[in-house]
Amino acid sequence: EDIGIVAVGFSGGQCKPGVDAAPKALIESGLLTQLREELGYKLHGDDEVHLYSDLAPAEDPPHRNMKNPRAVSAVTERIAQQVHHHASQGRMVLTLGGDHSIAIGTLAGSAKATRERLGREMAVIWVDAHADINTPETSDSGNIHGMPVAFATGLAREENPDGPFGWLHKDHLVSTSKLVYIALRDVDAPEKRILRENGIRAFSMHDIDRHGIGRVMEMALAHIGNDTPIHLSFDVDALDPLWAPSTGTPVRGGLTLREGDYICECVHETGSLVAVDLVEVNPTLADERDVGAHETVRAGCSIVRPPSSSPTTKTNHITTLT
Ligand code: ARG
Ligand code: MN
Ligand code: MN
Ligand code: MN
Repeated sequence: EDIGIVAVGFSGGQCKPGVDAAPKALIESGLLTQLREELGYKLHGDDEVHLYSDLAPAEDPPHRNMKNPRAVSAVTERIAQQVHHHASQGRMVLTLGGDHSIAIGTLAGSAKATRERLGREMAVIWVDAHADINTPETSDSGNIHGMPVAFATGLAREENPDGPFGWLHKDHLVSTSKLVYIALRDVDAPEKRILRENGIRAFSMHDIDRHGIGRVMEMALAHIGNDTPIHLSFDVDALDPLWAPSTGTPVRGGLTLREGDYICECVHETGSLVAVDLVEVNPTLADERDVGAHETVRAGCSIVRPPSSSPTTKTNHITTLT
């Protein structure tokens, strides 16, 4: 199996430095070596962390309340091309962020390639404490990492084709009916309205407590439907800060590491996974004991790594043996 790697050292979608150092930290901790040597994947485009410094605009004043609009637009446009390049050759694409604004690019690239190659509309599973569906107009912070889903679904749009995100074309877009959230627990009031008005399927931590992660994954995958290509966008802050403290916007009451792994295993088992993003690991934000960064990087590796010992086919499940 072939995987295209896109390592994105970019932090312009929010204000804290350090999230751009994540790909290097993840790679140095052995993530790609494990995929290659232990799991036998063939990796393409690995080892080079892209900093996109050639795309940095001389001046980047706010536009429609967005911070760094031109930088984020230019970088995500380039990422869309990188992801599209891998995906159109049938590779699963693994993008190591970077802050979550980069998903504007990853979703655009994989949505377009999926349409062209498979003639299908892909689904998105967004695992996050946050909904990241603010429009520039509803956002309090102006940070674009709180807006990627709005751009990816066309709920936020730039009318001027030369303006920031004017490059997004309808082929790049994802349908709100094929979007599922898991692990939400810090959703802004205008975002709640957007989710409700568009009938977007969302499983909060409350739902996970009520039904258990097993049932939630059944419902999430049932909503998407069999045989639909899936893009998994995993914000490390979906995990509880106990497991992943080194992230820019931690929220208590999150997933256990095991629940996070389980989500990825279930999606992997569908056989329909076309792309994975791992974002918001910030190795420079360590806690007092200074173990935060190391633990968060380890958690990130665990999330991305497909199950080696755990079953990949239903017949191997222990529950079928009882
Ligand atoms: N909702 C807040 C905002 O719009 C926080 C977003 C956090 N996003 C993230 N990718 N960590 O700014
Ligand atoms: Mn988040
Ligand atoms: Mn909030
Ligand atoms: Mn996010």
